[in-house]
Amino acid sequence: MSGSSSSSHRIAVIGGDGIGPEVTVEALKVVRAAGVRLDTTDFDLGGARYLRDGEILSDEVLNQLRGFDAILLGAVGTPDVPPGVIERGLLLKMRFELDLYVNQRPFLGTAPGHTKSHDFIVIRENTEGPYVGEGGVLRRGTKHEVATQGSVNTRMGVERCVRYAFELAMKRERKHVTLVHKTNVLTFAGNLWERTFNEVAAEFPQVSTAYNHVDAACIYFVQDPHRYDVIVTDNLFGDILTDLGGAVSGGIGLASSANLNPARTGPSMFEPVHGSAPDIVGTGKANPTAAILSAALMLDFLGETTAADRVRAACAESVSGSTTQIADTIAARLA
Ligand code: IPM
Ligand code: MN
Repeated sequence: MSGSSSSSHRIAVIGGDGIGPEVTVEALKVVRAAGVRLDTTDFDLGGARYLRDGEILSDEVLNQLRGFDAILLGAVGTPDVPPGVIERGLLLKMRFELDLYVNQRPFLGTAPGHTKSHDFIVIRENTEGPYVGEGGVLRRGTKHEVATQGSVNTRMGVERCVRYAFELAMKRERKHVTLVHKTNVLTFAGNLWERTFNEVAAEFPQVSTAYNHVDAACIYFVQDPHRYDVIVTDNLFGDILTDLGGAVSGGIGLASSANLNPARTGPSMFEPVHGSAPDIVGTGKANPTAAILSAALMLDFLGETTAADRVRAACAESVSGSTTQIADTIAARLA
């Protein structure tokens, strides 16, 4: 093996549900082929585990996770469990409790109908917005039912996310940050984001800025993705935009993500953007590339940048075949 680091990294592995375990195994195979030593511990969590004994993510298990250098996750969620139970109880609980306040999702590819490739990164706020679960329901199941779902935006939460986006832009060639929101309708939250963005921007005179409403950004993702370098946006807009980002960048099977605690007060978590895809589980049709590229983001964060770049280079040329065949081809390129 080449480029192997002196110590091994302690990684908590949560394969999860559906195709999650399949793609995670392949991602670990590729990281090891790149010469990085990993000391992995499997955590059996997700819908199947919940159905078996009710465990979603107890505080005890959460505290065990805190002791690792990073968490590698496949996908969670199963049709056998009502929507939200595993997503909120496992995935969002990790994002909130481990303070993974940046969700970094890179998009590199050539959008349909274009000839030139684009290269942009979405920085999605990952601990606030409509995801906090503020709200409730009254008179459920009656004609007078009321459901509210609030969006929480704190100055601290917005600022640290926006600042991360500017710091990231400083390391990139174009040094351009676009704020995406809906300031013309969500005037309270939008105004907080806009003011914070402008104040942080003033500290980075070398970085140019732009603003797009989220609906317009959807058009630009398809028609003119080249305008973007770094995008910063709220949790829900970021969720929706990054599926579109995947769709215009070679498909969701290539879309990687890093849930980061940039303050490093605990482990960060790395997972593909895609879900558990229960319809194709066990068929060998799952593309492991998104999981492999998520593992490359993990290597970046662990300081294994040479190996991370090598993994990305090995993924750059497209591969076809089954889940295992794709990973084997990528791993062979690293050997
Ligand atoms: C994502 C996913 C999650 C989200 C779900 C599974 C809760 O769609 O990581 O984009 O909405 O954040
Ligand atoms: Mn999503």
